[in-house]
Amino acid sequence: MNDKLYDFGMVGLGVMGRNLLLNMADHNFAVAGLDLDPAKIAFLHSEAEPNQQVTGTTSAEEFCKALQKPRAIMLLVPAGKIVDAAIQNLLPHLEAGDIVIDGGNSYFPDTDRRVAELAMKGVHFFGMGISGGEKGARYGPSMMPGGDRTAYERLRPVFEAVAAKVNGEPCVTYLGNGSAGNYVKMVHNGIEYGIMQLISETYDLLKRGLGFSDDELQQVFEKWNATEIQSYLIEITAEILKKNDENTNEKLVNKILDKAGQKGTGKWTSQNAMDLHVPAPTIDMAVIMRDMSAYKEERVQAAKQLNNSSVGTADNINKKAFVDQLRNAFYFAALTTYAQGMVQLQAASKAYNYGLTLQDVAKIWRGGCIIRAACLEDIRKAFEKNSELPNLLLDDKIGGELMQRQTDIRSVIKLSIDKEIPVAAFMSALSYFDAYKSERLPTNLIQAQRDYFGAHTYERLDQPGTFHTNWTGDSLSKK
Ligand code: 6PG
Repeated sequence: MNDKLYDFGMVGLGVMGRNLLLNMADHNFAVAGLDLDPAKIAFLHSEAEPNQQVTGTTSAEEFCKALQKPRAIMLLVPAGKIVDAAIQNLLPHLEAGDIVIDGGNSYFPDTDRRVAELAMKGVHFFGMGISGGEKGARYGPSMMPGGDRTAYERLRPVFEAVAAKVNGEPCVTYLGNGSAGNYVKMVHNGIEYGIMQLISETYDLLKRGLGFSDDELQQVFEKWNATEIQSYLIEITAEILKKNDENTNEKLVNKILDKAGQKGTGKWTSQNAMDLHVPAPTIDMAVIMRDMSAYKEERVQAAKQLNNSSVGTADNINKKAFVDQLRNAFYFAALTTYAQGMVQLQAASKAYNYGLTLQDVAKIWRGGCIIRAACLEDIRKAFEKNSELPNLLLDDKIGGELMQRQTDIRSVIKLSIDKEIPVAAFMSALSYFDAYKSERLPTNLIQAQRDYFGAHTYERLDQPGTFHTNWTGDSLSKK
């Protein structure tokens, strides 16, 4: 290292940290990296252009000395204890006024705790979800900052420079108080899980249900990406379906073990939706189906024992018509998944005092992130029209899109039942819609049952108050 002072520091030079730092260097910021692994420092240097101001070290002290004061440091390390360890490593070398940003997928209560702990030392800490993977970090991610607004404002020029742009607008904006940034990123990932599950069910219906060849499958997704369901996840699906395995020259996707991994953000979204009593069934189902996928050995056994072998290709189905129905069903379910996530954000904003503006959330999700999709512009507009919109299903435009497609999702689900193809996410999306638009649900009966066995009382439709009925006429008192 030399005596130069650097604008921005990055702790953790893995894929995300290194690429985001190089992105900053592309925008003429002088940047320094810290990693305990010297190989990562060497790699950072080898990737930087000679005219860029990039340096790296394994020493926290050297790193902190090299940064302009007040320091701006981002952590891009795996969530959990490693974040705390990285903070402890820096802390002796930090001063009041310095800013530390957690750019990882940290669990939001951890962020609230760290904000309080570092505030005692005068250090501004804020959580900022970053989405877009390796390429996004390098050429423009979507960034979801929350917490200390003054600290954010100081770093705004850096973030706006490196973020993805949609219609010239950067995909980053201050979202709200406390752990708002990590919370929004968590729900982003919950929606990501939901959409990925819907795409995998779509693929299964085409492949097992209709017997589409690998090439036909690939073409469907490629064509779809030029329609209203255009999105990053549909686009990469088309790319994935093209790729051949180097060893066998068959499609690589067919060689991949059908057990899905997960790092926790989808599960946290579901868990917190339950805590807030917000129904998010498509996100729940996506987590559940990843869990189900892990039971590979039992599934192999059950496939032998429980199948009635009626699953096969359907000769009497009009394939072209079905592909159109399926596209409509997918759009219906995807919109419903975004709706569930947005309701959760609205509820969390009230419960945790985040002060979120959902229009801003939709705006910064239009580019750079994994769930970017053409429909996010309609979602943004819905909240621009009505910032208090309780559910996207009630927006005229989005509600209209769903109404137009509800017959198709019902047909798709009927076929999946006949073909024994699990479409838990599609079913959950349709049930969410059907329940939300049910003026009367059968929960009157649940209330009656609760009152019957537990004297939990109920309310009536025809008069105010709380009621209890002795349903059997029996008396508990001994005669
Ligand atoms: C993103 C991704 C990113 C990460 C996921 C993967 O927005 O860039 O969401 O954060 O790839 O966390 O999560 P799972 O391992 O749980 O699928």
